[in-house]
Amino acid sequence: FSLKPYNTFGVEAKAKYFTEVTTIDELKEAILFSRSHSLPLLFLGGGSNVLLTKDFDGIVILLNLKGITEKNQDENNILVTANAGENWHGFVMYCLDNNYGGLENLSLIPGNVGTSPMQNIGAYGTEIKDIFVQCSVLNLETLEVEIFDLEQCRFGYRDSIFKQEGKGKYVILDVTFKLTKKNHIIKTEYGAITGELEKLNIKNPTIQDVSNAVINIRQSKLPDPKLIGNAGSFFKNPTIPQSQFEDLKLKFENIQGYPNGDQVKVPAGWLIEQCGWKGKQIGNVASHRLQSLVIINATGNATGKEIYDFSTLIINSVKEKFGIELEREVNII
Ligand code: EPU
Repeated sequence: FSLKPYNTFGVEAKAKYFTEVTTIDELKEAILFSRSHSLPLLFLGGGSNVLLTKDFDGIVILLNLKGITEKNQDENNILVTANAGENWHGFVMYCLDNNYGGLENLSLIPGNVGTSPMQNIGAYGTEIKDIFVQCSVLNLETLEVEIFDLEQCRFGYRDSIFKQEGKGKYVILDVTFKLTKKNHIIKTEYGAITGELEKLNIKNPTIQDVSNAVINIRQSKLPDPKLIGNAGSFFKNPTIPQSQFEDLKLKFENIQGYPNGDQVKVPAGWLIEQCGWKGKQIGNVASHRLQSLVIINATGNATGKEIYDFSTLIINSVKEKFGIELEREVNII
Protein backbone atom coordinates (compact mmCIF):
# COMPACT_ATOMS: atom_id res chain seq x y z
CA PHE A 1 0.00 0.00 0.00
CA SER A 2 1.53 3.31 -1.07
CA LEU A 3 2.02 5.92 1.66
CA LYS A 4 2.94 8.66 -0.81
CA PRO A 5 -0.37 10.55 -0.42
CA TYR A 6 -0.12 10.33 3.37
CA ASN A 7 3.14 12.17 4.01
CA THR A 8 3.64 15.83 3.14
CA PHE A 9 7.18 15.16 1.87
CA GLY A 10 5.42 13.14 -0.83
CA VAL A 11 7.99 10.35 -0.70
CA GLU A 12 7.17 6.83 -1.77
CA ALA A 13 7.12 4.13 0.89
CA LYS A 14 4.98 1.03 1.08
CA ALA A 15 3.12 -0.35 4.08
CA LYS A 16 2.28 -4.02 4.38
CA TYR A 17 -1.16 -3.15 5.79
CA PHE A 18 -3.04 0.13 5.91
CA THR A 19 -6.29 1.09 7.59
CA GLU A 20 -8.16 4.29 8.26
CA VAL A 21 -10.04 4.58 11.55
CA THR A 22 -12.85 7.02 12.33
CA THR A 23 -13.88 5.81 15.79
CA ILE A 24 -12.12 4.64 18.95
CA ASP A 25 -13.61 1.17 18.47
CA GLU A 26 -12.14 0.89 14.97
CA LEU A 27 -8.83 2.07 16.37
CA LYS A 28 -8.87 -0.62 19.06
CA GLU A 29 -9.81 -3.24 16.49
CA ALA A 30 -6.84 -2.27 14.31
CA ILE A 31 -4.51 -2.42 17.31
CA LEU A 32 -5.81 -5.87 18.27
CA PHE A 33 -5.27 -7.02 14.67
CA SER A 34 -1.66 -5.85 14.85
CA ARG A 35 -1.21 -7.75 18.12
CA SER A 36 -2.69 -10.99 16.88
CA HIS A 37 -0.49 -10.84 13.76
CA SER A 38 2.60 -9.53 15.62
CA LEU A 39 2.81 -6.54 13.30
CA PRO A 40 4.62 -3.30 14.13
CA LEU A 41 2.32 -0.27 14.29
CA LEU A 42 2.68 3.16 12.79
CA PHE A 43 0.13 5.92 13.36
CA LEU A 44 -0.28 8.69 10.85
CA GLY A 45 -2.26 11.89 11.21
CA GLY A 46 -1.67 14.65 8.70
CA GLY A 47 1.75 13.17 7.85
CA SER A 48 3.30 16.61 8.12
CA ASN A 49 6.10 15.82 10.53
CA VAL A 50 7.40 12.44 9.36
CA LEU A 51 10.09 11.32 7.00
CA LEU A 52 9.54 7.78 5.74
CA THR A 53 12.95 6.42 4.85
CA LYS A 54 11.93 2.88 3.92
CA ASP A 55 8.98 0.53 3.45
CA PHE A 56 7.06 -0.32 6.60
CA ASP A 57 6.63 -4.00 7.28
CA GLY A 58 3.63 -3.59 9.54
CA ILE A 59 0.29 -1.85 9.78
CA VAL A 60 -0.20 1.87 9.26
CA ILE A 61 -3.23 3.32 11.00
CA LEU A 62 -4.53 6.60 9.64
CA LEU A 63 -6.27 8.48 12.43
CA ASN A 64 -9.35 10.11 11.06
CA LEU A 65 -11.50 10.79 14.10
CA LYS A 66 -13.51 13.92 13.35
CA GLY A 67 -15.64 16.33 15.33
CA ILE A 68 -15.52 19.50 17.41
CA THR A 69 -17.41 20.09 20.67
CA GLU A 70 -17.65 23.11 22.93
CA LYS A 71 -18.37 23.80 26.57
CA ASN A 72 -18.83 27.26 27.99
CA GLN A 73 -16.53 27.86 30.91
CA ASP A 74 -17.43 31.35 32.07
CA GLU A 75 -18.28 34.82 30.73
CA ASN A 76 -14.95 35.10 29.00
CA ASN A 77 -13.79 31.59 28.16
CA ILE A 78 -14.89 28.53 26.26
CA LEU A 79 -13.44 25.03 26.19
CA VAL A 80 -13.23 23.69 22.66
CA THR A 81 -12.38 20.05 22.01
CA ALA A 82 -11.34 18.78 18.59
CA ASN A 83 -10.89 15.15 17.65
CA ALA A 84 -7.48 14.04 16.45
CA GLY A 85 -8.34 13.77 12.76
CA GLU A 86 -9.49 17.38 12.38
CA ASN A 87 -7.19 19.33 10.10
CA TRP A 88 -5.30 21.86 12.23
CA HIS A 89 -5.82 24.92 10.08
CA GLY A 90 -9.48 24.03 9.50
CA PHE A 91 -9.91 23.92 13.27
CA VAL A 92 -8.18 27.29 13.69
CA MET A 93 -10.50 28.77 11.04
CA TYR A 94 -13.54 27.27 12.79
CA CYS A 95 -12.49 29.01 16.02
CA LEU A 96 -11.89 32.33 14.28
CA ASP A 97 -15.28 32.12 12.52
CA ASN A 98 -16.83 31.78 15.97
CA ASN A 99 -14.61 34.57 17.29
CA TYR A 100 -12.79 32.31 19.75
CA GLY A 101 -9.34 33.69 20.46
CA GLY A 102 -6.07 31.93 21.23
CA LEU A 103 -5.13 29.95 18.14
CA GLU A 104 -4.77 32.78 15.59
CA ASN A 105 -0.96 32.90 15.73
CA LEU A 106 -0.95 29.21 14.85
CA SER A 107 -2.80 29.66 11.54
CA LEU A 108 -1.79 27.61 8.51
CA ILE A 109 0.37 25.09 10.34
CA PRO A 110 0.09 21.84 8.39
CA GLY A 111 -1.07 18.63 10.06
CA ASN A 112 -3.93 17.48 12.26
CA VAL A 113 -5.11 18.38 15.75
CA GLY A 114 -4.03 14.99 17.12
CA THR A 115 -0.36 15.58 16.49
CA SER A 116 -0.31 19.14 17.80
CA PRO A 117 0.56 18.15 21.41
CA MET A 118 3.33 15.77 20.30
CA GLN A 119 5.74 18.54 19.54
CA ASN A 120 3.86 21.40 21.19
CA ILE A 121 3.44 23.13 17.85
CA GLY A 122 4.38 26.77 17.94
CA ALA A 123 4.78 29.79 15.71
CA TYR A 124 4.77 33.58 15.83
CA GLY A 125 4.86 33.93 19.58
CA THR A 126 2.40 31.18 20.60
CA GLU A 127 2.77 27.52 21.47
CA ILE A 128 -0.19 25.24 22.06
CA LYS A 129 0.82 24.91 25.70
CA ASP A 130 -0.41 28.51 26.15
CA ILE A 131 -4.05 27.50 25.55
CA PHE A 132 -3.93 23.75 26.14
CA VAL A 133 -6.19 22.22 28.78
CA GLN A 134 -5.99 18.47 28.25
CA CYS A 135 -5.92 15.67 25.72
CA SER A 136 -7.48 12.21 25.76
CA VAL A 137 -5.21 9.39 24.74
CA LEU A 138 -5.58 5.69 24.17
CA ASN A 139 -3.07 3.72 26.21
CA LEU A 140 -1.70 1.19 23.72
CA GLU A 141 -1.00 -1.40 26.37
CA THR A 142 -4.27 -1.35 28.31
CA LEU A 143 -6.47 0.03 25.51
CA GLU A 144 -8.03 2.34 28.12
CA VAL A 145 -8.66 6.02 27.51
CA GLU A 146 -6.62 8.31 29.78
CA ILE A 147 -6.52 12.06 30.24
CA PHE A 148 -3.30 14.08 30.20
CA ASP A 149 -3.49 17.60 31.60
CA LEU A 150 -1.09 20.45 30.88
CA GLU A 151 1.38 19.46 33.56
CA GLN A 152 1.39 15.78 32.63
CA CYS A 153 2.17 16.63 29.00
CA ARG A 154 5.47 18.25 30.07
CA PHE A 155 5.57 20.60 27.14
CA GLY A 156 8.84 22.17 26.11
CA TYR A 157 10.09 23.77 22.91
CA ARG A 158 8.95 21.32 20.18
CA ASP A 159 8.74 18.71 22.90
CA SER A 160 6.32 16.79 25.15
CA ILE A 161 6.04 13.56 27.09
CA PHE A 162 4.81 11.96 23.85
CA LYS A 163 8.28 12.40 22.34
CA GLN A 164 10.03 11.27 25.54
CA GLU A 165 8.96 8.59 28.08
CA GLY A 166 5.53 8.33 26.48
CA LYS A 167 6.89 7.71 23.01
CA GLY A 168 5.04 4.89 21.25
CA LYS A 169 2.79 4.30 24.28
CA TYR A 170 -0.24 6.44 23.50
CA VAL A 171 -2.42 7.60 20.64
CA ILE A 172 -3.87 11.08 21.05
CA LEU A 173 -7.64 11.00 20.51
CA ASP A 174 -8.70 14.59 21.10
CA VAL A 175 -7.36 17.88 22.40
CA THR A 176 -9.13 20.54 24.49
CA PHE A 177 -8.17 24.21 24.38
CA LYS A 178 -9.28 27.09 26.57
CA LEU A 179 -10.12 29.98 24.25
CA THR A 180 -11.45 33.48 24.79
CA LYS A 181 -14.90 34.62 23.68
CA LYS A 182 -14.10 38.28 24.33
CA ASN A 183 -11.26 40.41 25.73
CA HIS A 184 -8.96 38.51 23.39
CA ILE A 185 -5.24 38.59 24.09
CA ILE A 186 -3.65 39.90 20.91
CA LYS A 187 -0.06 38.70 20.50
CA THR A 188 1.92 40.73 18.04
CA GLU A 189 5.34 40.80 19.72
CA TYR A 190 6.83 38.62 17.01
CA GLY A 191 8.54 41.18 14.77
CA ALA A 192 7.21 39.87 11.49
CA ILE A 193 3.58 40.24 12.63
CA THR A 194 4.02 43.88 13.57
CA GLY A 195 5.58 44.56 10.19
CA GLU A 196 2.81 42.75 8.34
CA LEU A 197 0.07 44.63 10.24
CA GLU A 198 1.78 47.93 9.46
CA LYS A 199 1.85 46.97 5.80
CA LEU A 200 -1.90 46.30 5.98
CA ASN A 201 -2.31 49.60 7.85
CA ILE A 202 -4.07 47.96 10.82
CA LYS A 203 -3.69 49.74 14.16
CA ASN A 204 -5.95 47.78 16.50
CA PRO A 205 -5.80 44.25 15.19
CA THR A 206 -8.52 41.68 15.82
CA ILE A 207 -7.71 37.99 16.18
CA GLN A 208 -8.79 37.61 12.56
CA ASP A 209 -6.26 40.31 11.52
CA VAL A 210 -3.49 38.50 13.40
CA SER A 211 -4.44 35.28 11.64
CA ASN A 212 -4.37 37.00 8.24
CA ALA A 213 -0.97 38.51 9.00
CA VAL A 214 0.41 35.10 9.99
CA ILE A 215 -1.07 33.52 6.87
CA ASN A 216 0.57 36.19 4.70
CA ILE A 217 3.96 35.71 6.37
CA ARG A 218 3.82 31.94 6.10
CA GLN A 219 2.71 32.02 2.48
CA SER A 220 5.50 34.43 1.63
CA LYS A 221 8.29 32.17 2.82
CA LEU A 222 7.14 28.66 3.58
CA PRO A 223 6.46 26.29 0.69
CA ASP A 224 2.92 24.86 0.47
CA PRO A 225 3.31 21.09 0.99
CA LYS A 226 0.52 20.52 -1.55
CA LEU A 227 2.79 22.02 -4.21
CA ILE A 228 6.31 21.17 -2.97
CA GLY A 229 6.86 18.26 -0.60
CA ASN A 230 8.19 19.36 2.80
CA ALA A 231 7.61 18.99 6.53
CA GLY A 232 8.15 22.57 7.70
CA SER A 233 11.24 23.18 9.79
CA PHE A 234 13.39 20.09 9.49
CA PHE A 235 15.57 20.93 12.51
CA LYS A 236 14.95 22.49 15.89
CA ASN A 237 16.52 25.83 16.70
CA PRO A 238 19.47 24.82 18.92
CA THR A 239 20.08 26.26 22.39
CA ILE A 240 23.66 26.78 23.44
CA PRO A 241 25.35 28.03 26.62
CA GLN A 242 25.83 31.80 26.92
CA SER A 243 29.61 31.38 26.92
CA GLN A 244 29.58 29.47 23.64
CA PHE A 245 27.38 32.18 22.13
CA GLU A 246 29.82 34.91 23.25
CA ASP A 247 32.72 33.00 21.66
CA LEU A 248 30.80 32.59 18.41
CA LYS A 249 29.90 36.29 18.43
CA LEU A 250 33.59 37.17 18.32
CA LYS A 251 34.03 35.15 15.15
CA PHE A 252 30.62 35.72 13.53
CA GLU A 253 29.46 39.18 14.52
CA ASN A 254 26.07 38.86 12.78
CA ILE A 255 25.02 35.77 14.69
CA GLN A 256 21.56 36.17 16.25
CA GLY A 257 20.49 34.74 19.56
CA TYR A 258 17.42 34.89 21.79
CA PRO A 259 17.60 34.32 25.55
CA ASN A 260 16.20 30.94 26.56
CA GLY A 261 16.49 30.43 30.30
CA ASP A 262 20.19 30.74 31.03
CA GLN A 263 20.98 29.62 27.49
CA VAL A 264 20.74 31.22 24.08
CA LYS A 265 18.54 29.99 21.23
CA VAL A 266 20.12 30.42 17.82
CA PRO A 267 18.07 30.33 14.60
CA ALA A 268 19.03 27.15 12.76
CA GLY A 269 17.94 28.77 9.49
CA TRP A 270 20.68 31.38 9.87
CA LEU A 271 23.35 28.79 10.68
CA ILE A 272 22.34 26.69 7.66
CA GLU A 273 22.28 29.70 5.37
CA GLN A 274 25.77 30.73 6.54
CA CYS A 275 27.03 27.31 5.52
CA GLY A 276 25.84 28.01 1.99
CA TRP A 277 22.85 25.71 1.93
CA LYS A 278 20.05 28.17 1.26
CA GLY A 279 18.41 27.22 -2.04
CA LYS A 280 21.04 24.55 -2.70
CA GLN A 281 19.87 21.37 -4.45
CA ILE A 282 21.53 17.97 -4.58
CA GLY A 283 19.71 15.48 -6.79
CA ASN A 284 16.02 15.64 -5.91
CA VAL A 285 16.42 17.42 -2.58
CA ALA A 286 16.99 21.07 -1.69
CA SER A 287 17.02 23.55 1.12
CA HIS A 288 14.22 26.05 0.48
CA ARG A 289 15.40 29.26 -1.18
CA LEU A 290 13.45 31.51 1.20
CA GLN A 291 13.84 29.57 4.46
CA SER A 292 16.82 27.25 4.63
CA LEU A 293 15.47 25.41 7.69
CA VAL A 294 12.91 23.77 5.40
CA ILE A 295 14.12 20.82 3.35
CA ILE A 296 12.07 20.20 0.22
CA ASN A 297 11.38 17.36 -2.18
CA ALA A 298 12.41 19.65 -5.02
CA THR A 299 11.60 17.43 -7.99
CA GLY A 300 8.80 15.44 -6.36
CA ASN A 301 10.86 12.28 -6.92
CA ALA A 302 13.04 12.32 -3.81
CA THR A 303 13.26 9.23 -1.65
CA GLY A 304 13.16 9.47 2.13
CA LYS A 305 16.71 8.17 2.25
CA GLU A 306 17.92 10.96 -0.05
CA ILE A 307 16.24 13.58 2.16
CA TYR A 308 17.73 12.01 5.26
CA ASP A 309 21.22 11.98 3.73
CA PHE A 310 20.82 15.61 2.68
CA SER A 311 19.93 16.52 6.28
CA THR A 312 23.05 14.71 7.48
CA LEU A 313 25.21 16.83 5.19
CA ILE A 314 23.64 19.96 6.68
CA ILE A 315 24.22 18.73 10.24
CA ASN A 316 27.86 18.00 9.43
CA SER A 317 28.60 21.35 7.88
CA VAL A 318 26.91 23.34 10.67
CA LYS A 319 28.86 21.27 13.18
CA GLU A 320 32.10 21.94 11.37
CA LYS A 321 31.60 25.70 10.98
CA PHE A 322 29.92 26.57 14.29
CA GLY A 323 30.51 23.58 16.58
CA ILE A 324 26.74 23.27 17.03
CA GLU A 325 24.96 19.95 16.55
CA LEU A 326 21.55 20.43 14.93
CA GLU A 327 18.79 18.11 16.04
CA ARG A 328 16.14 16.87 13.60
CA GLU A 329 12.64 17.99 14.45
CA VAL A 330 10.91 15.69 11.97
CA ASN A 331 10.19 12.09 13.04
CA ILE A 332 12.38 9.70 11.10
CA ILE A 333 10.69 6.36 10.39
N1 EPU B 1 16.98 33.05 9.02
C1 EPU B 1 18.06 33.18 8.16
N2 EPU B 1 18.10 32.37 7.06
C2 EPU B 1 17.14 31.48 6.77
C3 EPU B 1 16.04 31.35 7.64
C4 EPU B 1 16.00 32.16 8.77
O1 EPU B 1 18.95 33.97 8.37
O2 EPU B 1 17.24 30.81 5.75
C5 EPU B 1 16.89 33.95 10.17
C6 EPU B 1 15.78 34.96 9.95
O3 EPU B 1 16.25 36.08 9.28
C7 EPU B 1 15.31 35.29 11.33
C8 EPU B 1 15.60 34.04 12.12
O4 EPU B 1 16.48 33.24 11.33
O5 EPU B 1 16.02 36.35 11.86
C9 EPU B 1 14.35 33.28 12.48
O6 EPU B 1 13.64 32.96 11.29
P1 EPU B 1 12.05 32.75 11.26
O7 EPU B 1 11.35 33.91 11.85
O8 EPU B 1 11.69 32.34 9.88
O9 EPU B 1 11.79 31.58 12.26
P2 EPU B 1 12.57 30.21 12.53
O10 EPU B 1 13.23 30.30 13.86
O11 EPU B 1 13.42 29.84 11.37
C10 EPU B 1 10.61 29.11 13.84
C11 EPU B 1 9.84 27.82 13.81
C12 EPU B 1 8.81 27.83 12.68
C13 EPU B 1 7.87 28.99 12.92
C14 EPU B 1 8.68 30.28 12.96
C15 EPU B 1 7.83 31.47 13.32
C16 EPU B 1 11.36 26.14 14.66
C17 EPU B 1 12.22 24.96 14.36
N3 EPU B 1 10.76 26.70 13.63
O12 EPU B 1 11.34 29.19 12.62
O13 EPU B 1 8.08 26.62 12.77
O14 EPU B 1 6.89 29.06 11.90
O15 EPU B 1 9.71 30.18 13.98
O16 EPU B 1 7.49 31.42 14.67
O17 EPU B 1 11.26 26.55 15.82
C18 EPU B 1 7.89 24.38 11.97
O18 EPU B 1 8.08 24.01 13.11
O19 EPU B 1 7.71 23.56 11.04
C19 EPU B 1 7.93 25.81 11.66
C20 EPU B 1 7.82 26.27 10.41
